[in-house]
Amino acid sequence: MRQHSPLQPLTQIPAHLQTIADYEKEAELHLSHMVWQYLQGGSMDEHSVRGNLSQFEQIQLLPRMLKDLTQGHTQIEILGQRFPHPIFVAPIGHQQQFHPDAEAATALAAEVLGSNMILSTFTNTDMRELKQGNPFKWFQLYWQGEREKSLSLVKMAEAHGFKAIVVTVDSPHSGIRDRERHAFFELPKYEPQPHHFIQQPQSKQNEHPLFQGLMKIAPTWADILWLSQNTSLPIILKGIVNPHDAELALQHGVKGIIVSNHGGRVLDGCISPITALELIKNVVPTDFPVLYDGGIRRGSDVFKAIALGASAVLVGRPCIYGLATAGALGVAHVLKILKEEFEITMALMGTATVDEINKDYIFQKS
Ligand code: FNR
Repeated sequence: MRQHSPLQPLTQIPAHLQTIADYEKEAELHLSHMVWQYLQGGSMDEHSVRGNLSQFEQIQLLPRMLKDLTQGHTQIEILGQRFPHPIFVAPIGHQQQFHPDAEAATALAAEVLGSNMILSTFTNTDMRELKQGNPFKWFQLYWQGEREKSLSLVKMAEAHGFKAIVVTVDSPHSGIRDRERHAFFELPKYEPQPHHFIQQPQSKQNEHPLFQGLMKIAPTWADILWLSQNTSLPIILKGIVNPHDAELALQHGVKGIIVSNHGGRVLDGCISPITALELIKNVVPTDFPVLYDGGIRRGSDVFKAIALGASAVLVGRPCIYGLATAGALGVAHVLKILKEEFEITMALMGTATVDEINKDYIFQKS
């Protein structure tokens, strides 16, 4: 275990920070051992965490040469909204642990870089503090047990200019995270308390603490349909990996999905999201937005996910490496690195626009 106390966040970016891997090493120096384990860890043996990263190594690109790229750009459109580029900021809760400016810093960086930010239910920065006029923000909802409680958060997001609701459905229970247990991880007691904490239900005698406890407050498809009928915002489900669930999503008023295994933090041994993406793309209409999340560390990973059918990608831990290292400045630099790497990959692949990127640019063995 590392013994020294965490370094203060930096106020300018030193020259040795050039890649996401550089930021990963640097961030560890700025966090306590316990918080580092919380950020990095996945569930159980971390097969899913490693799989999310290594899956990209197996994919080989098949570039085209001599094309005219002078009209090139990275803009995309999802559900009628145009975005400057397809690199979005994943929802990550409790960001005050990583930097005192928390989600306010991440939001500022995302805004400057034109990245769509998905704000977690477990934000330490009140959703009302995010800039009203910035159109690139979605709100991530953890179901609040009861419909009305969930809807009141959605209504607040509607009122504050969020453009979509991302309901995370892959974690009705948190994962078994060995690293956190070994490090005796506990969330800090915030002042003031984040406003969206769910009270865990107490199971009665003879009741199963899990199935008649927590599972009682987990949402079902009926709740998703109900929610979609009670908000003007599009509902997007995060954490779908099974094609059958993708089909059900379409039948329950859902306007898009995010293929994700929660960064390997919930179910260990879960299918890699890149494999799931390919399966799901086979069953949904071509214009149904399918976003990708998990293991993006390079601009070439962004390209690969888009080539396999993603409309956009989410970036989780790398943003927090930037936040822990240097607050808003660090997050902005991380996003800039990924954006530039993606643009250069596009140019080297012979693709002028994101719409042009497809499976033909991936080498298929058979
Ligand atoms: C998360 N993730 C997450 N997801 C979500 O829907 N709501 C949340 O509050 C959180 N909180 C959270 C905390 C931490 C510390 C991590 C690392 C992750 C999951 C996150 O949105 C995303 O799915 C993964 O981080 C994607 O994997 P990468 O990009 O980290 O490899």
